[in-house]
Amino acid sequence: MRIGIIGLGYVGLTLAVAAAAKGIDVYGIEINQHIKDCLKENKAHFFEPGLDNLIKRNNNKTLHVVEEFPADISFDAFIITVGTPLKSGAKEPNFEYIKSALMSVQKVYDGSQLMILRSTVSVGTTRRVILPFLSQMCGKEESDILISMCPERTLEGKAVDELTHLPQIISGNNQASVEIAQKLFRMITPCVIEANSLEEAELIKLYCNTYRDMTFAIGNAFCMAAQEFGVDGMDAIEHANYGYARSNIAKPGFVAGPCLEKDAYILINNMPDCDSKNFILSARRFNESLEDMVVRWVKSKVGEPSDSKIIALSGMAFKGQPETSDLRGSSSVYIANKLKAAGYKMNLHDFVALPEELKALNLGTVYNDLHDACANAKALLVLNNHKKYASIMDDQVFHFSKDGFEIFDSWGVCTELYYCEDIKISTLGNMFN
Ligand SMILES: NC(=O)c1ccc[n+]([C@@H]2O[C@H](COP(=O)([O-])OP(=O)(O)OC[C@H]3O[C@@H](n4cnc5c(N)ncnc54)[C@H](O)[C@@H]3O)[C@@H](O)[C@H]2O)c1
Repeated sequence: MRIGIIGLGYVGLTLAVAAAAKGIDVYGIEINQHIKDCLKENKAHFFEPGLDNLIKRNNNKTLHVVEEFPADISFDAFIITVGTPLKSGAKEPNFEYIKSALMSVQKVYDGSQLMILRSTVSVGTTRRVILPFLSQMCGKEESDILISMCPERTLEGKAVDELTHLPQIISGNNQASVEIAQKLFRMITPCVIEANSLEEAELIKLYCNTYRDMTFAIGNAFCMAAQEFGVDGMDAIEHANYGYARSNIAKPGFVAGPCLEKDAYILINNMPDCDSKNFILSARRFNESLEDMVVRWVKSKVGEPSDSKIIALSGMAFKGQPETSDLRGSSSVYIANKLKAAGYKMNLHDFVALPEELKALNLGTVYNDLHDACANAKALLVLNNHKKYASIMDDQVFHFSKDGFEIFDSWGVCTELYYCEDIKISTLGNMFN
């Protein structure tokens, strides 16, 4: 089998490498020069366990990064993996990247190859937007085009592993499309699930992420509700869950990242006004509201901003477990922007994110060491749940225990610090108590 992948970002590169590792002949195109430069050196442009090794093993063998798809070889399928962000300033999906991806296969696409959409789109996009586009591009009837929607559902930080065993959702506009998609994904993963339609496949992807979003919203809402009664929200949730299988209330925390921040909006995008839509939207908005709550906490503990009131922010990547360097859609970045707008000066730190990417945010001074970031600060915000926070108490602990220093340990992960009585710590569970 030979496939062409359009876009070698998080999704495209991990899929390209997983397919190449199974002997599929993979050609990938990418418009970002930095990504191509990294791949020339056999490495990914982001941190993903196991990925660099696989690139090294397969690059220039079954994995080919090319400027454009060669016209003298035949492809069984093309896979679109470009981003589908929300339009800037609006909560609506922007599918311009998909259209540009389709244009980039124009020279080699003749309607005989399967076009697989892997990017996340609103329900109906594959049939109503992409299918007519392809038909026009190659001059064939829509009924003769082969198109599939096969969404990506891996977790960043575990993608290389998950791609080889997660059930893969496939779909097609006709039986021939389904069969090619089946054949391709069966070479990568043992379990392939055929959705009843392109629309069902689109919906499944959106359900998976929106379900997570809404589940976390329940934990966050319960956590804040507890504080209305003067009760610690994190403790109440932990004790409600303990040994009681029927309670699995999510631990409170930021619900972020390039997918969770947008997929609920993509799901409701073309949904008529109804109670389901309002329900989904209110969960998303509740999760987003946590960012303003942190700004309120800073104001209440540190007071109004001034040059001497520096706030240290650590955990800038959108999640700590599994660890990632990804800053896209990170609540920490949104919080930093809100603090900057409020007039606070900041020091930034992360255990995994690349310092040059943190510097490019232009939100504060970047430190490689957490204790250095706290040295001249009035408060520390620990904003993701990286495992290293459990053991940050070293010989520089005086930065945490200095007079008036406040710590906001959003996820309650700085476990060692809780043994030290003179360190003042708040969490999402008691931030307003
Ligand atoms: N990141 C994840 O873990 C994840 C998981 C599931 C689904 N998704 C979905 O998958 C899609 C891709 O997400 P991502 O995180 O990989 O995005 P990304 O931005 O990391 O990757 C997309 C890549 O496509 C490239 N690109 C854009 N237009 C191009 C073109 N015309 N030709 C060649 N390359 C082009 C971009 O430069 C970029 O590198 C999105 O719809 C996202 O919602 C992402």
